[in-house]
Amino acid sequence: MDLDGRKRQAAARALDEVRDGMKLGLGTGSTAKHFVDLLGERVRRGLTVVGVPTSEATRAQAAQCGIALTTLDEIDRLDLTVDGADEADHALDLIKGGGGALLREKIVAAASDRMIVIADDSKWVERLGRFPLPVEVVPFGLAATRRAVEAAMAGCGVAGELRLRRTAAGHAFVTDGGHWIIDAHLGAIPDAPRLSAALAAIPGVVEHGLFIGLASTVVLAGADGIRVIERP
Ligand code: A5P
Repeated sequence: MDLDGRKRQAAARALDEVRDGMKLGLGTGSTAKHFVDLLGERVRRGLTVVGVPTSEATRAQAAQCGIALTTLDEIDRLDLTVDGADEADHALDLIKGGGGALLREKIVAAASDRMIVIADDSKWVERLGRFPLPVEVVPFGLAATRRAVEAAMAGCGVAGELRLRRTAAGHAFVTDGGHWIIDAHLGAIPDAPRLSAALAAIPGVVEHGLFIGLASTVVLAGADGIRVIERP
């Protein structure tokens, strides 16, 4: 099975956890796209759910699939969020934001009773950090924020190139929230919870892609089938 087939397999396994009447967080990215697609099929066969999308792209897809949508202003909590990840480790900590939707993804995950991460098994890592860590920043004061990010990283024993994410046309990539993203090429993050706290304390950093303690389950699809890892 090819990579895309594995992503769809993981998405199908997460769909087994969806029950009628649930309030769902809908993730962003190529794996979450399969989940929304499969959820749409179930909705067309009579399942009643309501979703909160984590990006404008997911909003458009979910609406097209006929999934009822709401916002976190209209409802209190979500039963379940299903989303992809760029990396996941044994502590079920994650790097997310390769698609640029980390801010809404984290808000939605934090408002959910459960978060199921769906991925092909190439995303399962011994230690986070090979995937560049996205740090979402406000454009104002970019150089000052970048220096503070560097200092915070050094304080946590990590260093690496910080690159402003750009579009193919060379412009700064702009998130759904109107911010920019610095991708931190660190190689390895020895203490992800510590770095998470240090980055969160910087004025100008809106959010970062370390998701600590948010995932309850990781569903990995690989050559040998599906593996489900639960938070102990
Ligand atoms: C979107 O901003 C990301 O957090 C995605 O969830 C993550 O990049 C995984 O995407 P894929 O499923 O496309 O690998």
